Amino acid sequence: MVSSSSEQTIVHNKTVVIGVSGGIAAYKIPELVRRLRKAGAEVRVVMTEHAQHFVTPLTFQTVSNNPVITEMFAPMMTADVAHISLADKADLVVVAPATANVIAKFAHGLAEDFLSTTVLATKAPVLLAPAMNVNMYTNSVTQENLQTLKARGFYVVGPDKGELACGWEGTGRMSEVEDILHDITMIMGPNDLKEEKILVTAGPTQEPIDPVRFVSNRSSGKMGYALAQAAATRGAEVTLITGPASLDPPQRIKTIPVFTATEMYQETLKRYKAMTTVIMAAAVSDYRPAQQAHNKIKKENDSFTLKLVRNPDILWEMGRDKGSCFIVGFAAETENLLKNARGKLTAKNVDLMVANDVTKPGAGFDSETNIVTLLTPDGAPEEIAKASKELIAQRILDKIMAIKANRRG
Ligand code: C5P
Repeated sequence: MVSSSSEQTIVHNKTVVIGVSGGIAAYKIPELVRRLRKAGAEVRVVMTEHAQHFVTPLTFQTVSNNPVITEMFAPMMTADVAHISLADKADLVVVAPATANVIAKFAHGLAEDFLSTTVLATKAPVLLAPAMNVNMYTNSVTQENLQTLKARGFYVVGPDKGELACGWEGTGRMSEVEDILHDITMIMGPNDLKEEKILVTAGPTQEPIDPVRFVSNRSSGKMGYALAQAAATRGAEVTLITGPASLDPPQRIKTIPVFTATEMYQETLKRYKAMTTVIMAAAVSDYRPAQQAHNKIKKENDSFTLKLVRNPDILWEMGRDKGSCFIVGFAAETENLLKNARGKLTAKNVDLMVANDVTKPGAGFDSETNIVTLLTPDGAPEEIAKASKELIAQRILDKIMAIKANRRG
């Protein structure tokens, strides 16, 4: 899921023109407008005549808090919304739903209503969210029109496969609002990580005792998921190796679920050398039960001793042979934060250690926020004050990129 924080930082104070054309999926667009406004965007809605059969302009006027443009030559048209100035003002134009009809108009440069005129006149990126009957979508004329537009730099999200309003099954459903928002943040984001291949580990590991019990820790996975999402939004190719976390799997990120530290070790070690950066945000269990019972252990005695053996230290293993890979570790501490974290930075040969005192209110496991200090082998510690995990993720990525730029000289 795209976090509202990445929307927040990316679309804030930007003008997004939403073009609504005549498809039943138009009923989902007020939610898109609401989300964009909540993230601080200025939203201007343009409706085609057909769209107004599905949703009223009043609905869009209310959610966008702006007049809605429904006609080319409305008498009350003010200078700032006249088609050319709106096309100029737009930082992004999103056409959702985009019917076969408007796609055909855009592909052939028609400018016969406000929406097609705006799309023809704008220099801003245009994102289309097609929605139509499966036969209209697969028709070669629509496919060619979409190809033409893609070749001209238009972005296209979806359509998805599923049950269509016309009763058919197939490809033609408009993408979910969440996916459209994801693409909006990708298009408008800084894209400064586009050269990066980043492996992120997240969550706890679970070390089985018997078929129903395990040894684990309180990690929620939130920090690692926020890092994976933020890196992908900034254009990186991201792989996420995650222990069991009760979070929605991030969209469009290659996600490899694991349970144990040994599985995380195997999946990480076979991939890290192909990466530019590895971020070990997972709370890997240091020990696992020496043996896993085949059947549920019965309570027979007054006490029970569980023998644990050491798990491999994944970070240490990578640090020994890191090649050109930039390695980031996390140190969750309950005492002597900086001393312990610096010790780990040196011992594990990492390039950046993110230290957090998990006893502080608003920091650490299962919290929505975090408070961290960034440590490097040679620089002074940098404390990042309490902030959402999404914002902390952005700051960690900024730091990685700054160190890399500095090394390049
Ligand atoms: O030594 P400590 O467990 O505190 O180090 C934490 C860092 O090391 C984290 O980045 C964690 O993901 C990583 N780690 C690891 N393998 C382990 C234990 C920790 O990669 N077995």
